[in-house]
Amino acid sequence: MAQKTLLKGRVLSFTSSPFEGEPTEAVKISEAVLIEDGRISAVADADGLRNTHPDAKVVDHGQNVIMAGFVDAHVHYPQTAMIASWGKRLIDWLNTYTFPEEMKFGDPTYASEIANRYLDLTSEHGTTTMCSFCTVHPESVEAIFNAAQQRNQRVVAGKTCMDRNAPEGLRDTAQTAYDQSQALLEKWHGVDRLSYAITPRFSPTSTPEQLDAMGALWAEHPHCLMQTHLSEQTDEIAWVRELFPEARDYLDTYEKFGLLGSHGLYGHVIHLEARERDRLREVDAALIHCPTSNTFIGSGLFDMNGLMRDGHRVGLATDTGGGSSFSMLRTMAAAYEIGQLRGTPLHAAQLLWLSTVGSARTLRLDDCIGNVAPGMEADLIVLDLASTPAITQREACAEDLWEAIFPTIMMGDDRAITEVWIAGRRVSN
Ligand code: GUN
Ligand code: ZN
Repeated sequence: MAQKTLLKGRVLSFTSSPFEGEPTEAVKISEAVLIEDGRISAVADADGLRNTHPDAKVVDHGQNVIMAGFVDAHVHYPQTAMIASWGKRLIDWLNTYTFPEEMKFGDPTYASEIANRYLDLTSEHGTTTMCSFCTVHPESVEAIFNAAQQRNQRVVAGKTCMDRNAPEGLRDTAQTAYDQSQALLEKWHGVDRLSYAITPRFSPTSTPEQLDAMGALWAEHPHCLMQTHLSEQTDEIAWVRELFPEARDYLDTYEKFGLLGSHGLYGHVIHLEARERDRLREVDAALIHCPTSNTFIGSGLFDMNGLMRDGHRVGLATDTGGGSSFSMLRTMAAAYEIGQLRGTPLHAAQLLWLSTVGSARTLRLDDCIGNVAPGMEADLIVLDLASTPAITQREACAEDLWEAIFPTIMMGDDRAITEVWIAGRRVSN
């Protein structure tokens, strides 16, 4: 008979969006969650579930919060080893630190070492799914998919395509980008829990011919995601204007090549023009907020309030290694601080939603991950709300659950993540 596990604790599920109405009313707290065959089979009161499933193994987490594993909607796993590199803005940061590191991923042994290191580090921080850029090398895609497959982990990734403004050794061509992306897509997309994302890095590193080839590939596989960067820094936007003098704006450099659509993910999107905002909304594209990256590289303040009010689909991401942390808790804290700088602080329920349901929606995976509900895949984490002395003393005087959770969001790290479950299997933490 299949192994059943009953986790008891404060089980946190979302029943609606905390951006529509009172944030706390979007959340339901239950006593227990039942895991069976890698999926959540019930969320209910503990005694009831015990009585109906006397064969289940019970693990009691007391006052700890049991919730969906974090979903990181935009990362560069190959930048793991150069995270926190000092003192540069976007284009210099790419040339000085990022490209030399990415050059190493033609070596499958190195790619595999970093892919496994990255998945170990992020799992310790409670991230169970991510959408990753790889490098130009097909080996880098093989490495992350192989590592994720061994862990039965849901991961989205794609070969990063660049055919100009990048060093020799990191450039492909329009044709090889198409051919290699297609081969990887056909090999990996839909295998186990893996999906392929078509990945032109950003307009400055692709010729119009390459963008056109990526658009053609996407048109042939419209169910695949397409990920890229958009409107991150003002210098970058000025450069795009020089490179594409005919384009109406930055988004137009994607739009005119078929790279704008409902399965498109656009990272950063800070300095958008009105037309860009409208078009992204019209096609129901996904916008990815990368707050620690946007402060670390000095990019600017994402307009969460305005974009949510206008009905955009928004996810949250570390953007490792432009982002300065592997932790989605730290990322939520940075999103909160950016909200404060814009005069619109985010509620703890909104932060948790963005890092689970919100990001899963951007990946079009919210029917299987990002929430605790019957039928969902059992990617779960257990949060200790008193993981350090500093957090414990603040949590001790909290008057409700949200006041108890917020110090962990602002000050918590991997010590707050006491257990991680991936596809119904506990992974060590
Ligand atoms: N724009 C193009 N490539 C990158 C990258 O690797 N990181 C960030 N933050 N922005 C980019
Ligand atoms: Zn990025």
